[in-house]
Amino acid sequence: MTEDLVLPAPREAATDVTDAPGEPLLVVEKLVKHFPVKGGFPIRRTVGQVQAVDGIDLTVHVGESFGLVGESGCGKSTTGRLITKLLEPTGGSISYRGKDITHATRRQLTPIRSEIQMIFQDPYSSLNPRQTVGKIVSGPMEINGIEPEGGREKRVRELLEIVGLNPEHYNRFPHEFSGGQRQRIGVARALALEPKLIVADEPVSALDVSIQAQVVNLLQKVQQELGIAFLFIAHDLAVVRHFSQRVAVMYLGKVIEVGDRDSIYTRPRHPYTHALLSAVPEVKVGGEDGEDGEEVPQRERIRLAGDVPSPISPPSGCRFRTRCWKAQDKCATEEPPLIQISGNHAGHLTACHFPEEPTIEARDEDIVLDPALAALEMDAES
Ligand SMILES: Nc1ncnc2c1ncn2[C@@H]1O[C@H](COP(=O)(O)OP(=O)(O)OP(=O)(O)O)[C@@H](O)[C@H]1O
Ligand code: SF4
Ligand SMILES: [Mg+2]
Repeated sequence: MTEDLVLPAPREAATDVTDAPGEPLLVVEKLVKHFPVKGGFPIRRTVGQVQAVDGIDLTVHVGESFGLVGESGCGKSTTGRLITKLLEPTGGSISYRGKDITHATRRQLTPIRSEIQMIFQDPYSSLNPRQTVGKIVSGPMEINGIEPEGGREKRVRELLEIVGLNPEHYNRFPHEFSGGQRQRIGVARALALEPKLIVADEPVSALDVSIQAQVVNLLQKVQQELGIAFLFIAHDLAVVRHFSQRVAVMYLGKVIEVGDRDSIYTRPRHPYTHALLSAVPEVKVGGEDGEDGEEVPQRERIRLAGDVPSPISPPSGCRFRTRCWKAQDKCATEEPPLIQISGNHAGHLTACHFPEEPTIEARDEDIVLDPALAALEMDAES
């Protein structure tokens, strides 16, 4: 379906130096978001802080696809919401095209609001069920008072075509579409204002695996052919692997490793990144799954021992130490800085006192963890 897409010509080359591919578009420094925890009776007081995001640095370049990966609750969505200014940070800074927007007011954000868009995880709840597709996709143009050449309806029909939907479905309602199609509507809405950066928060997690590849393909096409930068949030390294040129791995509010795709997938140094990438074959006894009691070999992802600690009182020193097989005394007392440790390629940063050796052999067999994800990868690469 996405193969036949006709995309409009890329935007004209910008004269502004900060629009050149490879230039920093979004720079996040020491970003912090703590949510107060209220308790007590009858007077409710702040009794603690959820340290959802705790001092992260990220740079997304013009036209680049940047993947942000980590387990549930590690602060990915909070990061996305801080960047899109849906949340006010507790500390740190966010600059966009060289301009500090950390505490910018609505009014100050007006000129750039159209340039940063968000695609949400749930294609069911993120679309207003009472609005037609035409109304939904033209909404951002309406809010921003933008009247494209030929009118909004013409533009919406073009956008529907770009995302692989039938422009004749302009007057239909969200419930008349499948999950994958609804996510395409979300993509069309995000493209309506010709953004420079799209924050996609787990845009395919709620979709069937077979549909995931189609939507990832669409996003990839949009990123490459329209030159839009992406911050692609996912809990699975396999999903961002073929989509992101650079990847950051988050754990409990911190970025613990960041680097280009090859460094992260073939030479990971942080034990947590290793854990996310590794898999062991597991044999289940048939009867449950197989016929006639024969053994059915299955591959299953390694589950890390123990739960993710609470972000209200994270472990001292290295936050991964309670689950790390390499932890030593130093890990409890000294927080490892995110730096380019010896043996890393340029730009590959790791926060660990006792990192794993860089692995030189391809980890392809480890990366694809189950047949469903393998199908997704093959589909997306074809
Ligand atoms: N508005 C809020 N008030 C209090 N705590 C919050 C709020 N939003 C998020 N949190 C907490 O902050 C932490 C990070 O949440 P966040 O949604 O950013 O994680 P995530 O990595 O996106 O997880 P998931 O993969 O489940 O979407 C969690 O412990 C969450 O409970
Ligand atoms: S700093 Fe220590 S606990 Fe943290 S990942 Fe490295 S070895 Fe493990
Ligand atoms: Mg989330």
